[in-house]
Amino acid sequence: MKQALEAIRAAALAHITAAQGEAELEALRVRYLGKKGELTAILKQMGTLAAEERPVVGALANTVREALEAAVRARAAALASESTARRLAAETIDVTLPGAAPALGGMHPTDRVQADLEEIFMGMGFEVVTGPEVEYDQYNFTLLNMPESHPSRDTQDTFYITDTILLRTQTSPVQIRTMLANKPPIRIICPGRVYRSDPADATHSPVFTQIEGLAVDKGITFSDLKGTLDKFFKQLYGSSIQTRFRPHHFAYTEPSAEMDLSCFKCGGKGCPMCKWEGWIEMLGCGMVHPKVLENCGIDPAVYSGFAFGMGLDRITLMRYNIDDIRLLFENDLRFLKQFV
Ligand code: DAH
Repeated sequence: MKQALEAIRAAALAHITAAQGEAELEALRVRYLGKKGELTAILKQMGTLAAEERPVVGALANTVREALEAAVRARAAALASESTARRLAAETIDVTLPGAAPALGGMHPTDRVQADLEEIFMGMGFEVVTGPEVEYDQYNFTLLNMPESHPSRDTQDTFYITDTILLRTQTSPVQIRTMLANKPPIRIICPGRVYRSDPADATHSPVFTQIEGLAVDKGITFSDLKGTLDKFFKQLYGSSIQTRFRPHHFAYTEPSAEMDLSCFKCGGKGCPMCKWEGWIEMLGCGMVHPKVLENCGIDPAVYSGFAFGMGLDRITLMRYNIDDIRLLFENDLRFLKQFV
């Protein structure tokens, strides 16, 4: 029986110290020390021993029990600290690793140009005003001195929602809305999308972007118009830039003009950017037609004003050397990502 006890002690100690987890250790504890365990089974046979042997075997059995219990406790402690160490290692945060940068969007190139132009005009005292893209015929044409069947309408054919509601062809209706709602002095710029039923190609798009300006006050003259635009383009392209004005016709301004800019690429010598002309056609402008002022309840005998309008997309294409206006409206990420 002593031998059996020693055999149990040896086998159990070997198993216990090699136990690989809490569950396995508990199974070993039950197997050796449990009520139906191997040690208990041996002790149950104590009755078969001679009287003088019982205390000896009993003492040995106790020693074995204590040894196994101690081994179980030691192994349990070792397993617990191993698992804590493993968890700590797994959960370690390396604060020196580079962070995962969130994907950032970027400004659309046209919006960037628009923001630059707005900043210059705001510096000159202009306020940025916007209006609806779906507009009344009245504001887009009639009050701008282009009554129904006026030939000027032909050059600005657009998309009609109803007979009297359309997609605006210019941001000039914002000028009308502003003059109807406010007394002079007025100094505004109106950026925004406009529409015309032009087929799309590299230089035309049925949707494009304009920025218009309007100043109305007592004593505004054509010199103010020239000075404002000249100063604006010098701020945009540098002080060596020159402007020139050519007579033109718009129904809503009188006199009207088109303004050219000396080529900012070649300085006027001639290059592909200006098609070898030295000048780049930039915008339409003029003195607000007295009829238009009157239509908006402003007395042309007291007040005068100037207005101008230019395409933002052309400026954007030139700035970034883009050769197709459609790229600005297709929202192809491969294109837009170049501007992030
Ligand atoms: N609407 C004109 C165009 O689209 C540009 C323009 C000319 C706007 C004269 C104006 C203006 O406000 O007064 O070509």
